[in-house]
Amino acid sequence: MMNRSDFSEYLAQKRTVIETVLLKIMETFMPENTRLKEAMIYSLMAGGKRMRPILCIAAAESVGGTQDHAMAAACAVEMVHTYSLVHDDLPAMDDDTLRRGKPTCHVVFGEATAILAGDALLTLAFEILSSEGPYRIQNIQMIPEAVRILARAAGPGGMIQGQMEDMAAEGVFLDLDALRHLHALKTGALIEASVELGAVLGRGSAGQVARLKAFAVNIGLAFQVIDDILNVEGDPKIMGKAVGTDRIKKKSTYPSLLGVDSSRAYAARCIDSALHALSGFDNKADPLRAIAVYILERKR
Ligand code: IPE
Ligand code: IPE
Ligand code: MG
Ligand code: MG
Repeated sequence: MMNRSDFSEYLAQKRTVIETVLLKIMETFMPENTRLKEAMIYSLMAGGKRMRPILCIAAAESVGGTQDHAMAAACAVEMVHTYSLVHDDLPAMDDDTLRRGKPTCHVVFGEATAILAGDALLTLAFEILSSEGPYRIQNIQMIPEAVRILARAAGPGGMIQGQMEDMAAEGVFLDLDALRHLHALKTGALIEASVELGAVLGRGSAGQVARLKAFAVNIGLAFQVIDDILNVEGDPKIMGKAVGTDRIKKKSTYPSLLGVDSSRAYAARCIDSALHALSGFDNKADPLRAIAVYILERKR
């Protein structure tokens, strides 16, 4: 297992590389300084944790691949994630004014530009995944599979359906199974895709990919349970977004069904299962193991 300072250094180093490449991608694919680009960069560079792209890279490394194998997919995933947040915060959806510690995209640029900036981040993600050039997938034979994995996770078979169910669930009581299903789509699908993309592009074997997917299902669930807990007892200054909103919107959440302590215990069991899925991996999977523990302990 990595110690805390090695892991902090790992995270900081990966964040720096990812942010550098994200900016380079923006300059390469959108050389002109437009208002659209400004809005996209505003949200993309607002200071996210970069958990999904780091997972993508760490998954590639865990099967013996390199950061470069996963970089295009890592950036594509972060763009899809950022688009989902820009749209999620819109007045028609969660109507939130603070994200990543800054006013939301629509507050700064207006609703129409925020919608289009989200659309542009989503489409640019797929352009990157499928393009020639320095930020492309190195083995071009893998491009269709990578596009399929991300499209499936982001679309109606994944995150979008999750967002639909999330909205329909406001003010409605969900039992644990229904909640787990909603979470698996809303946030789990993209986290799973991040890991799967890394595993596949890092040339993992079918068995390794399957175990990494099991890992991802469990950290995805734990991630959302902790997100629900932080919405109850997190510090909005550290989180960079509003808290207490689930209760106001009458959302069924893990803490509302189980209470905070049992929810935390449940998340811890998910992380145990995730670590178990990695038991056959060597120390190249240590960053993934550390990320799993971080998901449980995170404060933002
Ligand atoms: C927030 O995701 C939204 C959810 C899917 C619960 P993150 O907590 O990963 O947000 P950033 O990217 O760090 O801002
Ligand atoms: C955001 O979920 C998930 C997606 C954008 C897919 P939430 O609405 O629950 O998360 P926050 O609280 O806005 O980050
Ligand atoms: Mg939402
Ligand atoms: Mg929201």
